[in-house]
Amino acid sequence: MSTTNVKKIVKQFGIKASAQKRIRGGIYRIVTPEGRKFCLKRMTKQIARLRWIDRMLMHVQRSGPLLAWRNPQNPEGRKPHAISQKGEFFVLTPWISGREPSPLSLTDMRACGIALARFHKAGQNALKGDISHSQIGMWYSTLHSRQQYIQKKIAKAKTNSFSLPISRFIQRHGPEILRYANQAKALLRSSGYESYRQSPRKNGVLCHGDGGPSNFILNENGTYLIDFETLHVDLRAYDLYRVIYNSCKDYRWDFSIAKAILDGYREVAKLKKTDYKLIRVWLRFPFTTYLVLSPFKRFPFTESRLQWALDSERRITSFLHKLEEYETRH
Ligand SMILES: Nc1ncnc2c1ncn2[C@@H]1O[C@H](COP(=O)(O)OP(=O)(O)O)[C@@H](O)[C@H]1O
Ligand SMILES: [Mg+2]
Repeated sequence: MSTTNVKKIVKQFGIKASAQKRIRGGIYRIVTPEGRKFCLKRMTKQIARLRWIDRMLMHVQRSGPLLAWRNPQNPEGRKPHAISQKGEFFVLTPWISGREPSPLSLTDMRACGIALARFHKAGQNALKGDISHSQIGMWYSTLHSRQQYIQKKIAKAKTNSFSLPISRFIQRHGPEILRYANQAKALLRSSGYESYRQSPRKNGVLCHGDGGPSNFILNENGTYLIDFETLHVDLRAYDLYRVIYNSCKDYRWDFSIAKAILDGYREVAKLKKTDYKLIRVWLRFPFTTYLVLSPFKRFPFTESRLQWALDSERRITSFLHKLEEYETRH
């Protein structure tokens, strides 16, 4: 988007941009002539969903948790969103100065766990039993359709439809990958999920949906959450899984990272047996492999990427044993 167009959108919020920096497509850091900093972000959501996200976050923010969201008391926070010439929605939030938490710091990870639990607590009051935008009932179908996707790729590999090294790799390791997917589904069946999903009003929380080091910011005020495009209602295990996955995936699945996150979370809220099992369900699904196979070009589709993903899935096996031990101890 051009500098002029960014300026026009920012103007709709009643502020002037004297400087702008593109963070990525659709995300800009805006500086006003007085030196105040904001984040302008395109939200690719339907208007009803955007209104719901806005309502929920303003409620949560009022009850304590630190979030990068608008404050309707401030002049620039009065307007929930602006619309570009192309008809896209943009939100303006304060720019939070600080640093990303590091998975190498257990103190940082504990802080993330605490912030997530506080967010869930505050979200429960915001929801007041309203379970629109819930994904609680979709766990089986999500896992199943991802598994089917993997199966399709395995079938293609059998006819050598990919390059020879890739086809051979998938032929050789396909059964192992599918075993992990089946284990995830079996875990789900024996987890207590059914009874949770039957009382969504009791068990649903407001889930961030994509927690992880890049969506927390630490500064002297505390731990902020940012990036709310994936906000939805779900079981809290889903958020814990996301934070654990995103924090551990690049650190060889070192369980001490997850332990710090869970320790932090448990300082604020208790976890039940079923919660731990539900976290294990998502971790056991071969999601990293799924991402490499999938068309979102986040990862190149190469043999070395597939090997990297498989190594990750294998590390998760012992990681899950440690999670079970952790569960038994607490
Ligand atoms: N309000 C904000 N304050 C400070 N940094 C931000 C803010 N919004 C985004 N960022 C920075 O930009 C990055 C990408 O923004 P984010 O909203 O997380 O988008 P994405 O959907 O790409 O994850 C963040 O990881 C963070 O470093
Ligand atoms: Mg993000």
